[in-house]
Order: sequence, then C-alpha cells, then structure tokens
Amino acid sequence: MKSSRKPLLEQKIDSLLKLMTLEEKIGQMTQIIHFEESAEESVTSKFLGSIIHTQGPFPGETALEWQNKFIALQKKAISTRLGIPLLFAVDAVHGQNTFEGATIFPHNIGLGATRNEELVKNIGKITAIESQATGFNWVFSPCIAIPYNEKWGRVYEAFSESTELTAKLTKASVNGHQGNLDDPKTVLATAKHFIGDGATDFGIEGGNTSLNSVEINDRLLAPYRVAVKENIGAVMASFNRIGNVSMHANKALITDTLKVGMNFNGIVVSDWKGYSRFGGNDIVNAGIDMVMAVDGDLEIFQNGLKKGIIDSTVSISRIDDAVKRILRQKFKLGLFDNPFPDTTLVTKIGSKEHREIARQAVRESLVLLKNKNKVLPLSKETKKIVVVGEHANNSGLQSGGWTVNWQGTKENYKGATTILEGIKQQAKGEVVYDSTATKNHFDADVAIIVLGETPYAEFFGDIGHESNELKLTLSEEHQNYIKTYQEKGVKTVVVLVSGRPLVVTNQINNSDAFVAAWLLGSEGDGVAEVLFGDYNFSGKLPHSWPKSVEDFKGKYGPNLWDKSVEPLFPFGFGLTY
Ligand code: BGC
Repeated sequence: MKSSRKPLLEQKIDSLLKLMTLEEKIGQMTQIIHFEESAEESVTSKFLGSIIHTQGPFPGETALEWQNKFIALQKKAISTRLGIPLLFAVDAVHGQNTFEGATIFPHNIGLGATRNEELVKNIGKITAIESQATGFNWVFSPCIAIPYNEKWGRVYEAFSESTELTAKLTKASVNGHQGNLDDPKTVLATAKHFIGDGATDFGIEGGNTSLNSVEINDRLLAPYRVAVKENIGAVMASFNRIGNVSMHANKALITDTLKVGMNFNGIVVSDWKGYSRFGGNDIVNAGIDMVMAVDGDLEIFQNGLKKGIIDSTVSISRIDDAVKRILRQKFKLGLFDNPFPDTTLVTKIGSKEHREIARQAVRESLVLLKNKNKVLPLSKETKKIVVVGEHANNSGLQSGGWTVNWQGTKENYKGATTILEGIKQQAKGEVVYDSTATKNHFDADVAIIVLGETPYAEFFGDIGHESNELKLTLSEEHQNYIKTYQEKGVKTVVVLVSGRPLVVTNQINNSDAFVAAWLLGSEGDGVAEVLFGDYNFSGKLPHSWPKSVEDFKGKYGPNLWDKSVEPLFPFGFGLTY
C-alpha cells in the first residue's frame, strides 16, 4: 500500500509552522539590511527571516569580521523562541563582488561569450565558496534576463540575447552555486528578475514590456523553467511592468505560471522596497513570499501585512504558503543544524586556484571581431609597444558596475591585475603607457588601445536616462585615441571594455584588430595571454552587434528576433587565429 505520509522535510516544515504566531510568520517574510533598523534588536523583536548586504557600509574589514557580524546576528535569531536561523543574502553577481580581495569574474555577458557550461558551473561553485567565506548563504544571482535593447543599463548582467544559450548557462550556474545545498560550501541561488526585465520597450530599467504572451513564454520563461528544474532556491520579482501591470503584483505570472505552472516551491523575493513601491499587500497576494523591507519599509510592511490579515484582504493560507517556502530553503541549506559559516573558508578568498579559473574565463570571453593582415597574435619580441587608454591600467574600469560598490569603482582594487600589467608580463621588448594618447609614441610598432564604458549599474546605465550622458557610441576622446595613433601609421589593436555591444563601426574600420573584452573582472592579465598567442581566441558573440545608432530607433535594437535590423556581426560571430 502506498504511504500517504508527506516526505520528512515537509513534515518538519508543517510542525514548525504550527508553532508560529502571526508575528513570527510575518517576521520570516521580512528581509532588512544589516546596518539598518537596529538590525540586532529587530532580529529578535521582529522575528526577521533574512538580512541583506548590498550598497552601503561594509560589515567589517576582514572576511572574519564580516562573518562575525553575521554570526552575531545569527546567534540572536537562534536565541528566539523557535530558533529559526536567518538567511544572509548578497548581490554576488560576478563573484563575491562586494568584498574587496575576492575573485571577480567577467560579468555574465562575457560568460555568454565563452559558451562554456563547465566553466560557468565552476564559477558558480567558487562564488558560493567566497560568499560563504564572507558569511552569506544566499546570492542574488544569476540574472537570466534576455536583453532586447542595448540601451538597457543591465545588459551585461545577463548571459545573452539568446534564450537557448541563456537556458544552458542558467542550468550550469544554478548547479554550480547550489550543488548539494546542505554542503556548507554552497549557497541558495536566485534567478532574476521575473519577468521581462530585459525586454522593456526602449530598454528602460523598470519600464513596460509589451511583448505578447507567446513571446514571453517562448523567449523569456524558458530559462526559468530550467532554473526551476535545477531546484533553484529563489526567484526575484522584477521592477518592470507587463502590459502595464507591475510584475510585483502580477499574480497570473508569479503564482499561476511560476509557482503552479512550473511547480516552483522556492521563495519569490521582492526587489528593493518592492512593498511600498508596487502595491503593498497586492504583491503578497500576487505570490511574493519575502519582502526586501529596506530604506524605511520595515514597519510599513510588517504593519501593513498584519492589517491585511486582520481585515481579511490577505488570507492566512497565503502567509502560510510564503513561510513554508522560506522554511523549506532553510531546512535544505541545513541551517537548523549548522547555522554558522565555516571560518576555514576565508583562506579560499581570492586564492590562486580561484583566480586561475577567473583568468580562464577572461581568455575565453574575448571575441575577436577583426584581425587585418594577421596583426594578432603579437610577437613577444615586438620592439616597442605603446598601451593607450585609462581602461588599460585600472582594474575598476575593466570590471564595470557591481564591483566593490554598487556602481563599481574607477580605482584599482585589491588583488586585481590590470590589462597593462598583463601586457608587461608577456612582452619582452619595451612597453610604454600613454593613458590619454598625448605622449606621441609614434615610433612604437603597435598600439594596444584599451577603451570603453565607465562603470554603471541599473538605471544609471540606461542610455537616454536623465541621470547620465551615456551613448551607444564611444566618447569623442576615446575615438581620438585610435585616430591619433592610426593617422601616424602605427598599427592599432583595439580592446573594447564595455557592458554591451556599442556602435563602433568606424572604429572597427579604422583599426587593424578589434577585440570585444566585455567587463572582465579582477584578472586583467588574461587579455595579454590571448593577444600574444599563448591561447587562441574562442569567444563568440552573445549578442548581435549593431552597426548604427539608427538601428535603435524602434523599441528594440538588433537582436536574434527582429529580422528587420541587420547587425554588423551576427550572434555567434568570432574570429580565431
Ligand atoms: C536590484 C537587484 C538587487 C537588489 C538588491 C535591486 O535594485 O534590481 O538586482 O539584487 O537591488 O541589492
């Protein structure tokens, strides 16, 4: 006879839930920042479920200090009546990028160029270890958006414009981060942002997505189906609207499609201040289980939800479902038995072994777009090389947003190697540096010109947003770096550091070799290993490459789907030696 008994895990969840008061349940659904709202006190008085670290004061200096900060909070949590441990979440989107000294990988767009599932899995594993080593058991990654428009400020956070490629790398990434969840070297992963984040009209962060339901199903939801199949622990709701309904309040997509349709039994977490921004209890009713109650939202959320229960606009069964999902992930992580991070892991942060994988990722992410007269690979014996551009000698600039700070940094950061340092290691002849193309090293045999975008994150990176003057083209200044050397007959090798394909048709025409290097992270020396031929190019374009600014006059730019715009280079393009 078949047993009708529930699996042990579900029994444990049910028995714990039965003991919980309404306040304790609402508490589990709450996430705050570690330095806000007198966190230590709130953990016990408000029964919090989770703590986040993102922008703002660091939890400490050393990794052990970070751990200790979270251990102290965890001790408070387990001292409460029911002793439910906390989840500690971090925006580790290309390595544990909030901790200076961690291994920082290329952003996802670069990983899309590698096409290497095994590598992406290893990167997930390493990110999990370095996140655990700094006290976290949950990461807000991977972003599995399908960007439709290069004007969107978050193109680089996503793997590719291709659904198929994104789905493959999603599987690898989720698997790498989560592995066996009760192994203390793994973390919960979060697929974000559900759904339509990268497909808003004109690439506006948090804008409206006007794709129809068939397109949403076929192109955007497919990677989520893969993530759910891989048992992803969490999904984050998106800032955008679909058909003008806020995604946070979109019950049809969150509950019917994701939870019921895909059988997702993990946590749906809101995005930043989602409760007060997107409709209060409507977002809970739509299926959001945990709320990022930050920036003054703590009381608003907890009191608002309680009121909703009292006046029956939110059902207790909805609350119970949310809490069960949160408890389920905590049990799966083994937090009830082992709530603290492993102190021995700190030696792994930024280790040689981890950096080697990051350097491999850099090498494999580089896409060669042009190589006239086989100017590349460069001979190590080249007599004189001039390296041009601020991006050549600045690990902050080469890494993009979400590096040390939310908006990235324009400074060198601890443990990283610059592109120039890598070139100097490889070259046997003279290497001179001309940061702004004003030193007239016209006797050089070749100029390696490194240029591109300065770091940005989220809406700050939207082209056309009032907060910035970003363009789809290079700045005049950077265009002149190429001209200056090219007009004097010096061979030019351009390395473009950018979070998205830019319109560089003239610059490609006017240079001898052109490499798309994306946002490469801490291991800048990976670039020279390919330029000097120790390794061949293997990267392939994860996006179609636009030829003109005009291509973006419609809602979307050149992409796999809109056949009316012909790209300069198609998706998948990439030369080799
Ligand atoms: C972003 C998310 C991020 C969250 C927490 C939001 O502004 O959209 O991607 O995980 O902040 O920092």
